[in-house]
Amino acid sequence: MEHNSPVKGRGWQNLVTEFGSPLLVLDCNVLRQQYRKLKNALPSVDHYFAIKALPNEMVINVLHKEGCNFDIATQGEVKLLEKNRISAKKTIHTHPIKRDIDIRSTLRFGCTTFVVDNEYELEKFVRYKERVGLLLRISFPNPNAVVNLSKKFGLAVNSVQEFLTKADKLGIHIKGLSFHVGSQSKLQQSHVDAINTCLEIITESRTKRDVPMSVLDIGGGFPINYDGIGIDIEEFCEPINTVINDRPKNIRVIAEPGRYIVAPAMTCLTSVIGKAIRDGIPWYYLDDGVYNSFSGQIFDHAIYPKISARKGDTRPSVLAGPTCDSIDVISENIELPELDIGDLIIAPMMGAYTSATATEFNSLPRTYIIAVNVAEHNDNEITQLI
Ligand SMILES: Cc1ncc(COP(=O)(O)O)c(C=O)c1O
Repeated sequence: MEHNSPVKGRGWQNLVTEFGSPLLVLDCNVLRQQYRKLKNALPSVDHYFAIKALPNEMVINVLHKEGCNFDIATQGEVKLLEKNRISAKKTIHTHPIKRDIDIRSTLRFGCTTFVVDNEYELEKFVRYKERVGLLLRISFPNPNAVVNLSKKFGLAVNSVQEFLTKADKLGIHIKGLSFHVGSQSKLQQSHVDAINTCLEIITESRTKRDVPMSVLDIGGGFPINYDGIGIDIEEFCEPINTVINDRPKNIRVIAEPGRYIVAPAMTCLTSVIGKAIRDGIPWYYLDDGVYNSFSGQIFDHAIYPKISARKGDTRPSVLAGPTCDSIDVISENIELPELDIGDLIIAPMMGAYTSATATEFNSLPRTYIIAVNVAEHNDNEITQLI
């Protein structure tokens, strides 16, 4: 696998010499490309980028310029948008479980769409019922997703009618339905089945309720390929589009993509800081690891590609992170040439759920991010970020 630097005239090594190692390189051209591809693949869907995947100001500003909206889940994410002067009109709050203070501060920001998935949560909105429109999140367990998001959250389909009756009694407006089929959902049928079920519920409820539901939020879960062979998102979304296009009139469809937009946009550059031979196998210790940018290997079950900048005959080796903990091993049995201290490992596809879940364990700082191609037609522009 080859993965070239996105900066004209400056290779990966050159960027590390200039900005230090480890380093995360965010390519804004790839961000724009991913957003546009998803938008083209689902033309009648309004996208709300799930900030949790990569809560970064540059990402927010680039996507905002593209016309993207934002999915927020915490007060910290609200603050990030406020700081970047993003209008609350472009946001929805999708965390199914919230404290009253989370609701209040989100309302103060100006966001009025919230997600709930049970009656206790519904009751929290009685005092705000004049100011909000709620989406009811339904659970759709999906064995074809890498990360199951219907165990911790979502109301079972057979409890929906009872919930809607309770909301009506409390006078709380349920303006639509939402779901998340799970992250890295490999089969589009999961989206299709969930959409069909939701459309049936919305259609049925239209005959029974005074204020009909008018929003369907199809969540995230759009997959990428960590092996670097791009998934054809148009092909993936084709059957999803078909069911969306057949929906009854006056239903707005929105989505909350995270991974698909940011995963291919960031590359991690990490250097060998130590080596050892253990039981005859070469171990290379890097300056980034699973407590830092590679945290997604633990939390997100992702395995990122790793490319050695040095070429040569290879043998099975181990790549480990810089902390003192033994869990901090990035790859075992990876084919590598003999590496020297200072050699570079390049890890593409590291934009989603990587720096977002990084820690500072062992008092090691989180990896710096630099953004490149910030303006669309200026190949050499680099902005340094924290
Ligand atoms: C509520 C919600 N929306 C959207 C997303 C983004 O999902 P994905 O990155 O799979 O597109 C997540 C991921 O955890 C989520 O929990």
